[in-house]
Amino acid sequence: MIKEEILALKLERHATILAHNYQIPAVQDVADLVGDSLELSRAAARLDSEVIIFCGVDFMAETAAILSPQKRVVLPEKGAWCPMAHMITPEQLCDMKTCNPEAATVCYVNSTAEVKAESDVCCTSANGVQVVDSLGEKEVIFVPDRNLAAYVARHTDKKIIPWNGYCYVHDHFTADEVRSARAEHPRAEVLVHPECRPEVIDQADFVYSTAGMGRHARASCAREFVIGTEVGMIYRLKKENPEKEFYPLSQNAVCQNMKKTTLEKVLLALQTLEPRVTVPERIASRAKQSIERMLQVKV
Ligand code: 13P
Ligand code: SF4
Repeated sequence: MIKEEILALKLERHATILAHNYQIPAVQDVADLVGDSLELSRAAARLDSEVIIFCGVDFMAETAAILSPQKRVVLPEKGAWCPMAHMITPEQLCDMKTCNPEAATVCYVNSTAEVKAESDVCCTSANGVQVVDSLGEKEVIFVPDRNLAAYVARHTDKKIIPWNGYCYVHDHFTADEVRSARAEHPRAEVLVHPECRPEVIDQADFVYSTAGMGRHARASCAREFVIGTEVGMIYRLKKENPEKEFYPLSQNAVCQNMKKTTLEKVLLALQTLEPRVTVPERIASRAKQSIERMLQVKV
């Protein structure tokens, strides 16, 4: 019933519902597009609907608002924020830049608009290596995720200068958990996210953003997969590949803020078009350059 109400109101409002892969199943099922951060940023840039209901966390809705200030971007749950995005302040980034004057600055999209405004270019977990390699500088400040920075550092010749932020969901996985999962599911391929620690990545078969995991699961001949990312990803993988089995690397890998968005909140957001996410123009104009520069990098 609530699902039908949402779908009807969505048409009336000329709204598009975007949902990240970690959203609860019911929310994924009412979305026009379910994707990873890069896919959702690209969609936000090209969509022509007047209203975007962004089912995700704060930095994702902010990115959409920066790319399309004329649209009304609504984050159904005001308290859905990414702890990692708030682990570095613009002042801390400016200090890093002062200490490393020759370096370019790359910020993971999981960052505040103010940090994006102080960066040369953004990246996501799907294009971090390509973004870094696209730069002329030999040294690159990479914020805020130390694990994604370490992953990129292994795949580029450039010197990476990391910040010490992390995602509490992915940083929690251990190499022992991967070994146990392999023992339990010997035929499974192990897919992990680049926000995981290097020693976890060392134990995996493949490293992907959430969208990359989806593409790999569809194309692979394997029938079983251990998935080292937030548990919400399992729903989508199973829905798209009903004949295959997906095991979470840990059932405890839950991003609490991603789970705060419910169907009731999506309906309320469509009814009230609140809470609206906006970014002040003086920050948005500079942050937009970093995001658009990222979107131009071929992956
Ligand atoms: P991706 O979906 O871009 O891989 O990002 C994972 C994540 O942690 C988003 O908050
Ligand atoms: Fe942030 Fe991690 Fe949650 Fe993604 S999964 S929103 S990086 S805390």
